[in-house]
Amino acid sequence: MSDFKINATSEDRNESDAWLETYANEDERKRRRKEMPAKLERLGLMDAPRDIQLLDLCCGHGEALDVFHSLDFKNLTGIDLTISEELAADSRFTIHQGDVTKTDLPDESYDWLTCIHSLHHLASAENVAKFMDESWRLLKPGGRLSVLDFPGSPQIKMAFWFFRQPRLHVTPYLKYFGSIIQEEWCFLKDYLPQWPQVRQHLWEGRFEVERSSSTLFYYYLTLRKPHPGE
Ligand SMILES: C[S@@+](CC[C@H](N)C(=O)[O-])C[C@H]1O[C@@H](n2cnc3c(N)ncnc32)[C@H](O)[C@@H]1O
Repeated sequence: MSDFKINATSEDRNESDAWLETYANEDERKRRRKEMPAKLERLGLMDAPRDIQLLDLCCGHGEALDVFHSLDFKNLTGIDLTISEELAADSRFTIHQGDVTKTDLPDESYDWLTCIHSLHHLASAENVAKFMDESWRLLKPGGRLSVLDFPGSPQIKMAFWFFRQPRLHVTPYLKYFGSIIQEEWCFLKDYLPQWPQVRQHLWEGRFEVERSSSTLFYYYLTLRKPHPGE
């Protein structure tokens, strides 16, 4: 996949340019980076061997990849629909531009796949089903897929309603998160009602559930692809 499509236009993807700009806000990047190790701990990644082949699906600007590198992970690959020139030129990583529901990457070539704060960007249960099939194909037997995202629970729907009311954006964080949710609403409005199907694809498919936990806003899921005959 040498055919980089750097900074694909918003017609090619769900996210608008305004979303990209808001998400890349420097203070928020710092906050997300600080919180990342605790999140990786919940997913079981802090204990993973450092020489595994790790592929970050929907890697964005490479924030999770950067944290993995700081934790001494050696073989880091990322893929996203939109790749910045900066990330494409970063020699610490192998970066591909592509759609995570149908990549050109080789079968059974990764030990661990991650998808951090991104699954809802796939916008439908049908795409999540394709993502699960693609993850199965890419993983070596015994390999793992870790997903961290928010569920379509009643409290999330209520929180997102709240975040979408500009008059309630009384702190910088509420304003930041409110703009993100507002920008994502074009696909969240369809994705959230499909949560029961998304949930089924994640927890009740071919994978073995190895770790599953949740907080008020997020679920943390690590799945394992069993060896044949296991
Ligand atoms: C919240 S951001 C990624 C955050 C990133 N995981 C991190 O750790 O910083 C969501 C990303 O999903 C990407 N995306 C959405 N749909 C995609 C698809 N079908 N294939 C690949 N990337 C996709 C978007 O381009 C965007 O960069």
